[in-house]
Amino acid sequence: MTSEEICLPGMSSCAGQYVATVSRVRHLARDTWAVRVECPQLAETIVPGQFFMIRPLTGSDPLLGRPFAFYDVCCNDAGRPVAVEFGFVRVGKMTTLMSHWREGEQVSLWGPLGNGFPVPACEHLICVAGGIGQTPFLGVAKEVLGLAEYGNPPRQPATRPSKVTLCYGVRSQPWLAGLDDFKLPGLELQIATDDGSFGHHGYVTSLLRNQLQQNRQGVHVYCCGPEPMMKATAEICAAEDVPCWLSLETPMACGFGACFSCVTRVRVAADEWDYRRTCVEGPVFRADQLVLSDH
Ligand code: FES
Repeated sequence: MTSEEICLPGMSSCAGQYVATVSRVRHLARDTWAVRVECPQLAETIVPGQFFMIRPLTGSDPLLGRPFAFYDVCCNDAGRPVAVEFGFVRVGKMTTLMSHWREGEQVSLWGPLGNGFPVPACEHLICVAGGIGQTPFLGVAKEVLGLAEYGNPPRQPATRPSKVTLCYGVRSQPWLAGLDDFKLPGLELQIATDDGSFGHHGYVTSLLRNQLQQNRQGVHVYCCGPEPMMKATAEICAAEDVPCWLSLETPMACGFGACFSCVTRVRVAADEWDYRRTCVEGPVFRADQLVLSDH
């Protein structure tokens, strides 16, 4: 593995650029896979909600890398982090190419990038995921439940929430990805499908509403998924006065703050907003800081 560092103003930490090897490909659900890449330097430092960019090592099409949040960090028999696993849905040229990757594939990747989710400091953490937006919440849940540590030095919650819930919604049962992975001691898993083929029939935001109706004291909400779903989640939390953080899935070209292709609108005063780069100032933002569109 080769590496060099990328350090630019605004980055929370320097990222490494690596050549790494795919060691496992798992089919998770319809058009959905998890890929494991051997990269100890990245596995040792990345924290939940951070991401990395990845592209094929050779060829120029696609030219640009794509951003992926890590799904899990994999350790060797001695407990040392040696690989990162990430999930994706086949939706375009790059992910179609990736769906054919096999063990031994050489890839270029750079990271860790972005800020990640804050270490939870609440009584009840509710994670709200839509589609492949469940990816960052395996690490969030494992960390907060004391089942795994991430970062170097490892992050430590000052206090652990007494309750952790994942509300996970997809369009239909065949797209439910990694349910076995989320069978974690202490994690309450609630499922919604748009067509009612599994779990609650309706949107995942209904599950959030139900949770907040039962109790909203001491609740924090983390959310990742399609923007309309995140906007609805932010509005529910604002109405209930519940702190909420969103992880944006903005298209990115460089991933480290140089190209400004990933900007989003952030409130800087009561009726003023400015652009912020999702790749360095995000991808995780307080929901009440963002100016979200309906689309
Ligand atoms: Fe280039 Fe964010 S992706 S600045």
